[in-house]
Amino acid sequence: MIIRPPRDADDEQIYEIGRIAFGGPREPVPERLWSKYPGWYGLVAELDGRIAATLKVREYRQFFGGSAVRMGGLASVAVAPAGRGRGVATALLDAAMPEMRDRGDCISALYPTVPSLYRGRGWEQTGNYERVALRPELFALLPKPAERPLLRRATESDLAAIHDCYLRFARTVDGMLDRSTAAFEPEKLLELDIVDIIPGVDGTVRGYLTGERSEFEKVVVHDLVADDRETALGLFANLGRWAGTSEEISLRINDPGWWQLLMALPVVHDVHNHPWMLRVVDLPAAVAARGWPNAAHLTPTSVDIEVVDEHAPWQAGRHRLVVDGGKVVCEPGGDGTVRLPARALGPWYAGSADTAMLRRGGLIEGDLAAARVLDLLTGAPRLPRMADSF
Ligand SMILES: CC(C)(COP(=O)(O)OP(=O)(O)OC[C@H]1O[C@@H](n2cnc3c(N)ncnc32)[C@H](O)[C@@H]1OP(=O)(O)O)[C@@H](O)C(=O)NCCC(=O)NCCS
Repeated sequence: MIIRPPRDADDEQIYEIGRIAFGGPREPVPERLWSKYPGWYGLVAELDGRIAATLKVREYRQFFGGSAVRMGGLASVAVAPAGRGRGVATALLDAAMPEMRDRGDCISALYPTVPSLYRGRGWEQTGNYERVALRPELFALLPKPAERPLLRRATESDLAAIHDCYLRFARTVDGMLDRSTAAFEPEKLLELDIVDIIPGVDGTVRGYLTGERSEFEKVVVHDLVADDRETALGLFANLGRWAGTSEEISLRINDPGWWQLLMALPVVHDVHNHPWMLRVVDLPAAVAARGWPNAAHLTPTSVDIEVVDEHAPWQAGRHRLVVDGGKVVCEPGGDGTVRLPARALGPWYAGSADTAMLRRGGLIEGDLAAARVLDLLTGAPRLPRMADSF
């Protein structure tokens, strides 16, 4: 087996692997061929002179503690049917690990179809990507905004202000992407049926809706982002206007602010979740890149950890996490008081699992009283969310 970066000439073969694995039209959409869009790097595996497997890493940044951390978003992991079951996907993951580290992607996230494959290489379930389907009449149960909202369709000149509005919310929710890397094509937003804004002062945007009218009785909302309660109520009131023409509003749950505190929910409702996994690829770099808002409220302390990670050996061994003056630094050495396998690092880093959960999941050993510092640092347990799938 040969593992190498893809070449432009591989486009058609790569498309074929992906089509057979995930479905799609026989004829490729030219602009979706790998060589035609930016913001990623990748690997292919050759078996018997033909490409038999693919892996792509999308260049993203993901918010943790208010800072955008470089994240490699693993996608298009696919093996031709005849090549499956002999370790090809695993070999691609192993080759991707040093590649991500060398490029500075210190964490990696993915949406698994086969969690066991990724667990075996140190990724673990960490956050949610959720959708809820609601009848539009339900929005009439919400309080009316004090002023009737004036929405207008966005134009190209609003794109930067829309992104600013998104960032004001996204940096407060761990797990959100910053949507500022080359992997995003902001102008594509304008192709949607709904790109409607509530303008603020001086060309700013206080809130916006993006989405599409699907061919069925459905409106699919991608983003509902609002600076404040009034703006959110204005956007909900607008969604309520679909009553009579649409059976269902499918809402992506991006902001726990409106989801948990504003929405009037029926007692029983279905939430459709696509959980994502996270892996720490370069622990000292990931610790340096994250924001640690809780650290400012902690007296100087430290916790010694020993990481067991045969697939990212550069971060295996002993580290001391030093908390001082509102900063957290990961230094080499220490006593290895708390032992963590690679799979524990993602949920710890994201704060999705506290040490009690890690213990029950078989992912931590050693002095668990000392390990409590790990929880205090991240504020665990808390649920990270992402609002982009890949
Ligand atoms: C999933 C896929 C990439 C696996 O490729 P592969 O080369 O066969 O995987 P490997 O041989 O490296 O498998 C390693 C381990 O992953 C797990 N695994 C792989 N495929 C699995 C499956 N379909 N169901 C459950 N576990 C699976 C097993 O634990 C396996 O170890 P084992 O063979 O000792 O049981 C391949 O089946 C595929 O292309 N599927 C369709 C596309 C897809 O689902 N891609 C994943 C996107 S997130």
